[in-house]
Amino acid sequence: MNAKITIIGAGNVGATTAELIARDGLADVVLFDIHDGIAKGKALDITEACPLWNSSSRVIGTSSFEDTAESDIIVITAGFPRKPGMSRDDLLNANAVVIKSVMEGSVQYSPDSIIIVVTNPMDVMAYAALRVSGFSRERIIGMGGVLDSARFRTFIAQEAGVSVADVEALVLGGHGDQMVPLPRFTTIKGIPIPELLDLETIERLIERTRTGGAEIVGLLKTGSAFYAPAASSVQMVRSILFDEKRILPCSVFLQGEYGLNGVFAGVPVVLGIQGIEKIVELSLSHEEMSMFNRSAAAVKSMIASLNIS
Ligand code: NAI
Ligand code: 2OP
Repeated sequence: MNAKITIIGAGNVGATTAELIARDGLADVVLFDIHDGIAKGKALDITEACPLWNSSSRVIGTSSFEDTAESDIIVITAGFPRKPGMSRDDLLNANAVVIKSVMEGSVQYSPDSIIIVVTNPMDVMAYAALRVSGFSRERIIGMGGVLDSARFRTFIAQEAGVSVADVEALVLGGHGDQMVPLPRFTTIKGIPIPELLDLETIERLIERTRTGGAEIVGLLKTGSAFYAPAASSVQMVRSILFDEKRILPCSVFLQGEYGLNGVFAGVPVVLGIQGIEKIVELSLSHEEMSMFNRSAAAVKSMIASLNIS
C-alpha cells in the first residue's frame, strides 16, 4: 500500500508540492482546499499527468476532511495572503484561524500523522499547530530553513562559479528578515566559505538570502515563491517517508536547546520516520548566538500577539 500524504491548501505551494510527490510516485496524495473545485481540478490535472511520468500515485482533490483520513504526513500550505489595510497581526491571526481548523481536522482524522507547516508566518503557525493539536513536538515541523539554505547555496554557487551540488549551507533561526545564515558552517566541497570568499561578498549574499522571498514577490507582484518552497517541503517529506535521517534545518519547538524555551526556531535536526529524531546543537560563537537570539525573540513577540483558544 502506498503511503498517504495530504496537502492542505491547493494554491501555488500546495499544488506544486502535490505535483512533485506524484511525479516521483512517492505516495498517494490528497489535495485539500476550501475551494472544492480548485482542489479537484488540480488533482485531476496531476492525475492525468501520472501516465506520462509512469507514476502510480493516486491523487484526489477534496474539501472534505474525511478524505484525508489516516494520512502519514500532512503538509499545511493553506492561508491568506496579506491584503491592503491588514496589519501583520491581522494576517497572523487570520492564518492562525486557518491552522486551528485544519489541525482540528488533522487530529481527528489522522491522529498519527507528522505535520509539516509551511503557512506564514511559519514559525508562529507551527507553534499554533503544536498548541491546537497537542501532538508531541517531534511531529510538528516547520519548513523554512531548507528553503533559505537552498537560496544561500544558489547565490554562493553563482558567485563562486561552481556547481550547487558542491555547496552546503546552513541557515538557522526564524524564517524571516532576521534569519541567521552561518558562513562558518557553509562550505564549498567541505571548505568553509570564509576561506574562499571575502567578507563583503559573503555579507552581500547573506543579505540577498534574507530578502530572498521578497525578491521573488517583487518580481511576481501577485504572489510569492512556490517552486523552491515546494521542492523544500518535498525534501523534508522524503526524509520522513523513507527514514533517510537527513540533517536538515527545520523549525522546531525548543525546550532548552540553544538556551531557548517555548519558541519555534530553525535548527539542524535529524529527520526520519518518527519526525524530528534529534536536534543537533552546534557550538555557536557569541556573535552567531546573539543573531540567533534576536531572530528567536522576533518569533516570540509574534507568538505573544497570537490569539488562539
Ligand atoms: P496561495 O494563495 O496560492 O494558496 C493558499 C491556498 O490556501 C488557497 O488555495 C486557499 O483557498 C487555501 N485555503 C485558505 N484557507 C483554507 C482553509 N481553511 N482550508 C484549506 N485551504 C485553505 O498561497 P501559496 O503561494 O501557495 O502560499 C501558501 C502559504 O505558504 C502562504 O502563507 C505563504 O506565505 C507560505 N509560504 C511559506 C514558505 C516557507 O518557507 N515557509 C515559502 C512559500 C510560501
Ligand atoms: C518565501 O520565503 C514567502 O516565505 C516565503 O518565499
